[in-house]
Amino acid sequence: MTDIANLEPAAVPAPEPAIAPHGRKVFVKTYGCQMNVYDSERMGDALARDGYVSTDSPESADLILINTCHIREKAAEKVYSQLGRLEKMKRQRRLVGGDLMVAVAGCVAQAEGEEIIRRAPVVDVVIGPQTYHRLPEALTRARAGERVVATDFPPDDKFEALPKATDKTIRARGVTAFLTVQEGCDKFCTFCVVPYTRGAETSRPAARIIEEATRLAQAGVREITLLGQNVNAWHGLGGDDREWGLGELLRRLATIPGVDRLRYTTSHPRDMDDALIQAHRDLPELMPYLHLPVQSGSDRILKAMNRRHTAADYIRLVERIRSVNPDIALSGDFIVGFPGETDEDFQDTMRLIGTVFYAQAFSFKYSRRPGTPGADLDGQVDEAVKSERLERLQTLLFSQQRAFAAACVGREIDLLIEKPGRNTDQMVGRSPWLQPVIVDAKAGKIGDIVRVRITETGSNSLYAAVT
Ligand code: SAH
Ligand code: SF4
Ligand code: F3S
Repeated sequence: MTDIANLEPAAVPAPEPAIAPHGRKVFVKTYGCQMNVYDSERMGDALARDGYVSTDSPESADLILINTCHIREKAAEKVYSQLGRLEKMKRQRRLVGGDLMVAVAGCVAQAEGEEIIRRAPVVDVVIGPQTYHRLPEALTRARAGERVVATDFPPDDKFEALPKATDKTIRARGVTAFLTVQEGCDKFCTFCVVPYTRGAETSRPAARIIEEATRLAQAGVREITLLGQNVNAWHGLGGDDREWGLGELLRRLATIPGVDRLRYTTSHPRDMDDALIQAHRDLPELMPYLHLPVQSGSDRILKAMNRRHTAADYIRLVERIRSVNPDIALSGDFIVGFPGETDEDFQDTMRLIGTVFYAQAFSFKYSRRPGTPGADLDGQVDEAVKSERLERLQTLLFSQQRAFAAACVGREIDLLIEKPGRNTDQMVGRSPWLQPVIVDAKAGKIGDIVRVRITETGSNSLYAAVT
């Protein structure tokens, strides 16, 4: 998945209660990847069914739900210090006869479990990503005085058990939507916690995905991003009784009226099959943007990371993808300072970046995660060396990103208008390559796809005018 640990924590937009409103308010704060954003929305739907109304102010909330990420260091410590602040809030409420419930969800909840209950008396519910459908029941038990930990991996289908969003809620969330199609990971890269926090790789049935995409489109969504920790490992029985991969699924989704744009993230290089590559040639709905993390350009390090491909395999794959669609923009994830990484290994990564040319990238210093094989490896790299390498890597990646943006100037594109801009006379949308694009408000309304010409680059966005 695109790591968006840098993403602004997002409050879930107000879902309308469908049943017996009791007036309780929930404030949801989301960290981590897009899968967490999707999960927060699903939990928001479940709570709305239970009578909760969403609020964007923690002060007015009866329930504070924190959806956490565990991908890099200090994640758990940050959660604990946040819980310390909530402890104070709860105490003050109780002094004046009120109360506050606190629930911790996500990957820190899964990894820490009981430990959260032990260390943070403020917490009423700890709930792991596989048990979100049990959140309302856990809250009922907590209201009866129990402190609930739900971090097992139950056999029931969470997605089926979670209530669907109402049309009104979908509309409130905007014209783009996430749709989780695959969860968990069996790849066990030696640096990564995801196989432990999200469990084994599973695919949702094609029929359920088609149904959800149809509902989204009927409620006005025009762009759907399929999500999965390894989204291109998705497979399932198709409507034609044949085994489908993600390429076939995308083909089917593109036929749904109203689904004008499709994206998917995050892909593993080993799971890019021919059908998926050809979908990039054949489907105008499939946006020409691919997030394909490589992590390192050194074969020695790739092996130690258990990525199970070489730098040359990756470059060949990129060439195959570009041969079917030369317009495709590549994005990637990089880790510097993995145990044993030498200057030479780092130079291999810089060379790979030079060869591939990335339109966008996310890069991180290696962070030692307890319980992963990488944490115990010899040759842990000095923090100062990691910082210095990260700076050089990011300088190169930013220069490619700027060059990519500059090359867009003068091009005509279809822009999906998503929301008002910071200035009232502007609207903001996304280019096919996922860059934010600012246009005059007269260009169109939210949900319109308009033909524009890119006129100039901004710091993190592009400017465009209607053609
Ligand atoms: N499934 C995706 C990535 C999921 S995690 C894939 O295989 O590419 C998102 C990103 O966080 C990873 O691509 C990696 O670059 C980064 N990351 C994961 N664990 C990390 C760690 N221990 N230290 C630093 N970065 C890490
Ligand atoms: Fe983590 Fe590797 Fe799985 Fe990606 S493929 S989620 S990096 S273990
Ligand atoms: Fe973070 Fe869990 Fe996603 S660790 S990146 S929230 S899968």
